[in-house]
Amino acid sequence: MAKGKVDALLGIVFGDEGKGKVVDFFTPRYDLVARFAGGPNAGHTIIFEGKKFVLRSIPSGIFDENKINIIGNGCVIAPDLFMNEAKEVEAAGYSIDRRLLISRRAHLILPTHRLLDKAYEAAKGNAKVGTTGKGIGPTYSDKAARVGLRVGDIEENFKEKYDALKARHLDILNDLGCRDLDISAEEKVWLESVEYMKKFRLCDTEIEINRALEAGQNVLAEGAQGTLLDIDHGTYPFVSSSSTTIGGVCTGLGIAPQNVGRVWGIFKAYSTRVGSGPFPVELFDETGTEIRRIGKEFGAVTGRDRRCGWVDLVALKYAIMINGVTDLVMMKADVLDTFDKIKVCVAYEKNGVRTESMPYDTEGWTAVYEELEGWKTPLSDIRREEDFPKAYADYIDYLEKALKTPIAILSVGPEREATIIR
Ligand code: GDP
Ligand code: IMO
Ligand code: MG
Repeated sequence: MAKGKVDALLGIVFGDEGKGKVVDFFTPRYDLVARFAGGPNAGHTIIFEGKKFVLRSIPSGIFDENKINIIGNGCVIAPDLFMNEAKEVEAAGYSIDRRLLISRRAHLILPTHRLLDKAYEAAKGNAKVGTTGKGIGPTYSDKAARVGLRVGDIEENFKEKYDALKARHLDILNDLGCRDLDISAEEKVWLESVEYMKKFRLCDTEIEINRALEAGQNVLAEGAQGTLLDIDHGTYPFVSSSSTTIGGVCTGLGIAPQNVGRVWGIFKAYSTRVGSGPFPVELFDETGTEIRRIGKEFGAVTGRDRRCGWVDLVALKYAIMINGVTDLVMMKADVLDTFDKIKVCVAYEKNGVRTESMPYDTEGWTAVYEELEGWKTPLSDIRREEDFPKAYADYIDYLEKALKTPIAILSVGPEREATIIR
């Protein structure tokens, strides 16, 4: 029997591209869906049959009752937030405890990791990353420092290990001027939620995934965040702390590169960024406000305004290169339905220097645009390529040529069915 493949769906800009929607849409084609990076900093929105869910840690394949979902070793997990999320999905009528596998190697986010996240941000003054405050950076730091706690740790002498790491965190917080913290209420719920996690299948997920591949099953790896938030390849230091790119799929699930099949790169027909950091295409004018309003560009996790701008070919080309994207998925073109002109950033400029490739220091560059015609037609009810307005078809064609990669899937509305396969 032929071995199965791991296809990856990766956000290739600054996150919030619509990964949740597309993973949910793709799930029927796969046997397993696995998250390989990030934690509750993610917010993946799924809308179907009049229902709406925003998933943070649970993979977006969970609403297909026949599919196994995996939280891989590359992820970090906050037991209390996970418990709330799991209970919400269960309350909606989905039984998940036998279908959700959690890696014993995934790292735990403690309440004190969240305090550290906030304290580090506060200490940064004007150089804040604008994190989600979920403790992501401090948890991955502890992982790299080899002092973190893993899901597997909850099986034995957990309280002892927890107390030791908490004491270490409280010392650091004390040095940062955060004293007399009372976390007893939060800690009580957190420790209860650690017990709650035991009803799920806490296991060596890398072995489960490789067994499934040997048996000819196919896996969809669900990205979190986006390429420009990757710890190595993003706009450092304004990034998250995990490997959000294709290499992260291998390390974050324990699979070898030759098992990777298609690499779907997902982006919006325009750009957004939430949090601080360079964003050459950012619009500070009425157009930016309109994109935010029509696209409902407010953070799914923190409710913050997302910064908006036109699509950025410099960023997209870079992400396609880093990830080996085989197919593109373009979301939310319907948001641009009313615009007379659509702009595309084709290069960056600084001090008379022009570049079309991602610079090391993305600070201080301005965008150089080309202008295309708007389609001025509602796209949301269109399901067939023959019915595309010409200017929309031209936009797709323009992007495909510039990016040298096919746009295989188009999304024209938030619901599952507003999706077109080409
Ligand atoms: P993710 O983090 O990549 O899963 O994306 P988010 O869920 O944070 O943000 C995407 C937002 O756009 C959500 O509110 C989706 O419901 C919505 N959305 C997804 N696809 C489309 C689309 O094609 N058109 C419109 N108008 N909204 C969409
Ligand atoms: P999804 O999976 C958009 C951003 C934060 C901040 C930076 C670091 O929904 O696309 P962190 O809390 O990770 O230390 O924050 O990364 N960020 C995201 N932006 N979508 C996300 O996830 C994000 N996860 C983190 O806003 O700028
Ligand atoms: Mg999101």
